[in-house]
Amino acid sequence: MSAYDFYETERALAEYLLFHYGSAEQILPWTFGPATALNYPARCVSECLEIARLPGQARALDLGCAVGRSTFELARHCSEVVGIDYSHRFIEVARHLQQHGSMPYAYVEEGHLTTPAMAVVPTEIDRHRITFEQGDAQDLRLDLGLFDVVLLANLVDRLREPRRCLGRLSDLVRSGGQMIVTTPCTWLEDYTPASAWLGGVEQDGRPVRTLETLQTVLDPHFTLTRTLDLPFLIREHARKFQWSVAQATVWIRR
Ligand SMILES: C[S@@+](CC[C@H](N)C(=O)[O-])C[C@H]1O[C@@H](n2cnc3c(N)ncnc32)[C@H](O)[C@@H]1O
Repeated sequence: MSAYDFYETERALAEYLLFHYGSAEQILPWTFGPATALNYPARCVSECLEIARLPGQARALDLGCAVGRSTFELARHCSEVVGIDYSHRFIEVARHLQQHGSMPYAYVEEGHLTTPAMAVVPTEIDRHRITFEQGDAQDLRLDLGLFDVVLLANLVDRLREPRRCLGRLSDLVRSGGQMIVTTPCTWLEDYTPASAWLGGVEQDGRPVRTLETLQTVLDPHFTLTRTLDLPFLIREHARKFQWSVAQATVWIRR
């Protein structure tokens, strides 16, 4: 199985449904632990989106949307939202959530033991504003149009060619529109050849970080307005978690 196939598996589906829609009690049932890392897909929108910049009838794009929580959250502020992910399975489930508002699943407790759960889209969100489609963020269809917001949450370090994806963004974001890029900078050769990493390498004898390369690549078209540290928590099973801190950056299209 290649690393990319992980996002087609039932294990990834359960982890991401819990990550996107699980409650604090389901994910972190103790009084100790990194509670500030909960609700990451919603916080990518609530903490990063610059609402005052949005025009009426704003359009948003969520690239690498997985099972769609950030996409739904963008619909609180935008009249049309498109969610795109490479995983057929994730998009199938995101579409089910868009159509029905909920999806039964089971998350792992230990070994083969699971707990049944229901992923529920917050009922106040207008699901009619959203469409989900399977697609490759490095090879997007040419007729997507212009957006007022583009979100790339934890996507760039999962791409084979992150620069190719970033290169298309200036065509997708309307002048004055915003782009939110979050990344834990987890560069792995399983996903991205080291020659294409945006950070975590030495060049000409000095260390290069992801933020520096993002600035170099995006600078011709975008102005960096904000950087934030966004913790997130992915529960693998009842007693194993990934706690990470994404670097979030907000960019305005000139
Ligand atoms: C680490 S997950 C992040 C998902 C979501 N944005 C979040 O923050 O929970 C990476 C996502 O990118 C998707 N992905 C990987 N390669 C992609 C590509 N070439 N085009 C679009 N999506 C891709 C995966 O299927 C997965 O859903």
